[in-house]
Amino acid sequence: MGVMREFNRDSLAFIEQARHDYGDIVWMRFLYVPAVFLYHPDQIEYVLATNAKNFIKSMSLRSNFFQRLVGNGLLTSEGEEWKRQRRLSSPAFHRERIGSYATTMVYYTDRLISSWQPGEARDMHRDMMRLTLEIVVKCLFSADVSNDIDEVGETLKQLVKPFASQASLKWIFDNRLPTATHLRFHALAKKIDKVVYRIIAERHASGKDEGDLIAMLLAARDEDGSQLTDKQLRDEVMTLFLAGHETTALTMAWTWYLLGKNPEAEKKFHAELDTVLQGRQPTMADLPRLKYTEQIAKESMRLFPPAFGLGREPINDCEIGGYHVPAGTQVFMFQWATHRDARFFDDPLAFKPERWTTEFTEHLPKYAYFPFGGGPRGCIGASFAMMEIILCLATIGRRFRLEMAPDQEVEVYAAMSLRPKEGVPVTVRSR
Ligand code: HEM
Repeated sequence: MGVMREFNRDSLAFIEQARHDYGDIVWMRFLYVPAVFLYHPDQIEYVLATNAKNFIKSMSLRSNFFQRLVGNGLLTSEGEEWKRQRRLSSPAFHRERIGSYATTMVYYTDRLISSWQPGEARDMHRDMMRLTLEIVVKCLFSADVSNDIDEVGETLKQLVKPFASQASLKWIFDNRLPTATHLRFHALAKKIDKVVYRIIAERHASGKDEGDLIAMLLAARDEDGSQLTDKQLRDEVMTLFLAGHETTALTMAWTWYLLGKNPEAEKKFHAELDTVLQGRQPTMADLPRLKYTEQIAKESMRLFPPAFGLGREPINDCEIGGYHVPAGTQVFMFQWATHRDARFFDDPLAFKPERWTTEFTEHLPKYAYFPFGGGPRGCIGASFAMMEIILCLATIGRRFRLEMAPDQEVEVYAAMSLRPKEGVPVTVRSR
């Protein structure tokens, strides 16, 4: 079994223990699959950036599970096809373009909180998932999914559930076997397909050019003049649908948790909002002055990186950290571990937004902190996400304080991403 059993029992603990016992580079085997865990920023930089050409995504991303979910979209494709998709999608994420999304972000956040009553109990994980899905779909596809949102949210939750436990076993055996879990997975994936195909069909039918990402994809032509098929479009839309909402929602959910547990930081956050906003809604123009809010977001992603690990596979044999790594080895890097490494972060388990000064950032090894990955396959939505997180936090924090019961603990659950196991329960208080 190799380390399969230990890894599946508690992946996060296993990841940290392996570094503690063996150091920055650890070789192991999952069943018959050789794997290497890398913990040092220099090694991570080598794989993600300097020698990126020699690596493709890991076996888990090529599994039937991911293929069924996001197909051959931007996150999973390789080579020329990936280059073309990245080129096609990039304009939707340029700085000038994402500026126009700010109003939508604030609008949907304000709509969410418009009915909140002081004293009300809420689950911030659930609320943030709903909010970010509405935002990404509206910004990139000019569609409103408010009516489907609860069903989509619940379906997504169910979808990843079986893959949280026994994850490595699943990606090795894959979901080829017609077990009850896998049949259920396909049925759930079909439900989400329905919403995505509906968004595409609506655009085909209206024929309107909304100037958004889906319009750019619809207008794209190959050299031979052919267009993206509906399946290709579906894969792109589904990829952005998934990559673009859960990660952002998780960052905000973890941030509310951290603020609830750290009253001093919460006070400073509120003070900044009062000074900068003076009682009005935030806009894009406020971003440069919402410095502490930005530091909060960064520190939250350090402690609870939504993407807690990344995987690659070398195409040709290579050398990492002085060790020979044969082609085909699964290479994993974990934000979860490197972000909590005392060599790079003083008092690493403490929530200290203040640490993110310009000077600190300049001296930090580049890949000691990589919540958005890096190199050519780095997150295309990083600026979009940062803007969304800051604006949404500010819109909510301006009006409400979200109180956590002093004894309330939130358990970390490493599914495809780093989730709060039973949500983030808070009580809404007026400010
Ligand atoms: C806090 C929020 C986010 C986090 C932490 C995050 C994290 C990441 C990471 C770590 C990667 C690299 C994966 C790898 O190297 O294997 C990635 C890629 C990607 N992300 Fe994000 N992401 C976030 C928000 C977004 C948003 C808002 C969008 C789109 C609206 C998005 C779309 C994508 C796409 C399409 C890729 C694949 C890019 C490529 O391979 O060319 N992400 N993200």
